Amino acid sequence: MSDLSTATTPAGTATAVAHPNIALVKYWGKSDATVNLPETGSLSLTLDVFPTTTTVTLDDDLTADTLELDGAPAHGTPLDRVRRFLDLVRERAGRSTHARVVSRNTVPTGAGLASSASGFAALAAAASAAYGLPTDAVSLSRLARRGSGSASRSILPGLAAWHEGDDTSSYAVPVTGPAVAMVVATVDAGPKAVSSREAMRRSADTSPYYPAWVTSTRETLVAALAACEAGDFTALGRITETNAMRMHAAIQACDPPVRYLAPTSVRLFDRIAELRGDGIDVWGTADAGPNVVAVCRPGDAQRVADALADLAPVTVAHAGPGVRLVAGPTA
Ligand code: PMV
Repeated sequence: MSDLSTATTPAGTATAVAHPNIALVKYWGKSDATVNLPETGSLSLTLDVFPTTTTVTLDDDLTADTLELDGAPAHGTPLDRVRRFLDLVRERAGRSTHARVVSRNTVPTGAGLASSASGFAALAAAASAAYGLPTDAVSLSRLARRGSGSASRSILPGLAAWHEGDDTSSYAVPVTGPAVAMVVATVDAGPKAVSSREAMRRSADTSPYYPAWVTSTRETLVAALAACEAGDFTALGRITETNAMRMHAAIQACDPPVRYLAPTSVRLFDRIAELRGDGIDVWGTADAGPNVVAVCRPGDAQRVADALADLAPVTVAHAGPGVRLVAGPTA
């Protein structure tokens, strides 16, 4: 991706749009929580639905950063996370000015639909442009990673792999693969009971299956990248569902246990298996929440959506764009 800085608005303010991504091979666990390095690499598809639009405006009169989220002032954890992120940006930019951040999600916040991915990808781009940091894809992916690991992948369009490494070398790269569509079934749009941050920590500390998750996922990523290179949708789909089930198995084995999948989620996985029995190449996945994402070929997406719609509201998604800076602040 080319340098995005040409699209910035007047000095000190910038607006960026980013989309969520859904992992085919999941990121679940950190090797370094301070700079957010993953225990294993992961692979995802950035979607063309549910964008987040974020404007960062530097203001010399502010004594602290402010955050407006979906039209209301934000406090607590969301504000703290944005402030910590902007502290990092300021440290790198050698500046001390605070900022107003205005962000609008069209993805249900905190429902396991990766609002943190689109949110921190958009914030990384807007803040980098507003504070004068580099806005090339590698720099933005590294920076977005510090806000939320999965955000490193939403910098890029379509399929992206985020590799292990150190603070400098761990960022997302583009992957060429088969055409993939996703049907998002929203089982519950409310915030999840246990954050992915907490559940990841608990998995590493207490789940006896966590070491097996790490070992198997490293192998799975190699197989998934080979399936992408071969353009083999069916192999990629099978890998996707198996990897999701393994992640949820590791999570459910925490002490105290965490269970993200709801009864309707399980029914959706059953329906997806029935569709496979009917000859449709479709596979399921779910992030840290009850929503289920059916992964299929673009030509089958509407048929899959129709077949799931009586169980949960569905949204058809395809490969979407990487983060971009847009002219002018948001409303
Ligand atoms: O980036 P985080 O901290 O929101 O964690 C994302 C974890 C999963 O969505 C469950 C998996 C993934 O790779 O996106």
